[in-house]
Amino acid sequence: MTTYTFPHNFIWGAATASYQIEGAWNEDGKGESIWDRFSHTSNKVTGGHTGDTACDHYHRYEEDIELMHRLGLKAYRFSTSWPRIIPSGRGKVNLKGLDFYDRLVDAICAANLDPFLTLYHWDLPQALQDQGGWENRDTAYAFADYAALMVKRLGDRVKNWSTFNEPAVVAFVGNLYGEHAPGFKDEGIAYRVAHNVMVAHGLGVQAIRNANSSLKAGIVLNLWPFEPETNTPEDLSAAENIWKANETHFLEPIFKGHYSPESYEIAEKHLTTFKDGDMALISQELDFWGLNFYSRHVISGEGEFVKVPASEYTEMDWEVCAPSLRRLLVRLYQDYKLPPLYITENGSAFQDEVSADGKIHDPRRLDYLKQHLIQTRLSMLDGVDVRGYFAWSLLDNFEWAHGYTKRFGLVHVDYTTQKRTIKDSGEWYAQVIRKNEVPE
Ligand code: FCB
Repeated sequence: MTTYTFPHNFIWGAATASYQIEGAWNEDGKGESIWDRFSHTSNKVTGGHTGDTACDHYHRYEEDIELMHRLGLKAYRFSTSWPRIIPSGRGKVNLKGLDFYDRLVDAICAANLDPFLTLYHWDLPQALQDQGGWENRDTAYAFADYAALMVKRLGDRVKNWSTFNEPAVVAFVGNLYGEHAPGFKDEGIAYRVAHNVMVAHGLGVQAIRNANSSLKAGIVLNLWPFEPETNTPEDLSAAENIWKANETHFLEPIFKGHYSPESYEIAEKHLTTFKDGDMALISQELDFWGLNFYSRHVISGEGEFVKVPASEYTEMDWEVCAPSLRRLLVRLYQDYKLPPLYITENGSAFQDEVSADGKIHDPRRLDYLKQHLIQTRLSMLDGVDVRGYFAWSLLDNFEWAHGYTKRFGLVHVDYTTQKRTIKDSGEWYAQVIRKNEVPE
């Protein structure tokens, strides 16, 4: 036993999302999603790339599950596409779409993997966007119906259900910065979306539990710690202020039942659809939560973002700084009463080359993975209740506004032939799983 040996029941997994891998964007009765619309609009995605075909996982899921099996994964985190199942967002169900997820879940279970399902990883039915999308509170009720339908169909095999992936990205990257679908740049819309998404989360949790009380319900948040450039009081307070204004907007309502004063100051004037009872709905106790962790922000005393000359940066221009994962976890478990945690995403994009021997030697991704697993284990020894780790991502895939230019996979995908090749980092991860231990 070394320090980096994990508990015997630790869950080792990998994650994906429907729009990023499935393709088959208009097959078998699937409705249009906001990402179909967005990527089909010029100048939204690098190179005009779309998820029309992506990794063609819709047709190749059996091969992909075989890969997961070869890697020795214990669990697979994926999302379901709402418009594939309910093309206009509410009402008529597309049975062929539902059947696809039924077959997928059967195949996951047959490979001895535990399915972790996310109901919303950003592909809203366009028909609902046409009625105001998440800015319209009715979308939250439509989401609850969709959640109930999925639980009824898959709840006999899927035990772990996440309502949303990264509500902050849904609200702000999609509606304030305009970089993701639906592409708005409007503060009011963004804050209303944020609130309604939290209401939808609360309704979703109720729908999951009403349909099957033995299931586990949670949500996946992305958090970037803001850390000071130096330990001067100016830097420390600048970083702390930005953390409170930016990163507590979902944490406080979900885990404390109220907005933090710092984020409510901006949000209040926009929350025109706030109802009594919302905060209780939003802050229902959860069985688990998921953290997507990639990097940190470093802040100067003037509140500016700074780069650290000595640090390594990934293709996304995100700093590699694994110790900040441990610092973040320890702080979160001091500040909040949190349920058990899964790290639901963690990974890095680097340029990969297929070498003459047909292999993908990706030492930087491997090292990123290793450093973050070590810090995960150390945070557990500090007392943080981490139950599992999901690498982002199983496959190279459609990286949103960056199209196919950023590769995060443990498995390389040749988009011309759809050939999959396990990278060195994937082979290394398989060894870690086999031994349940990160080698020194
Ligand atoms: C997260 C997303 C995921 C992927 C990674 C790189 O924000 O949840 O879909 O794009 O970033």
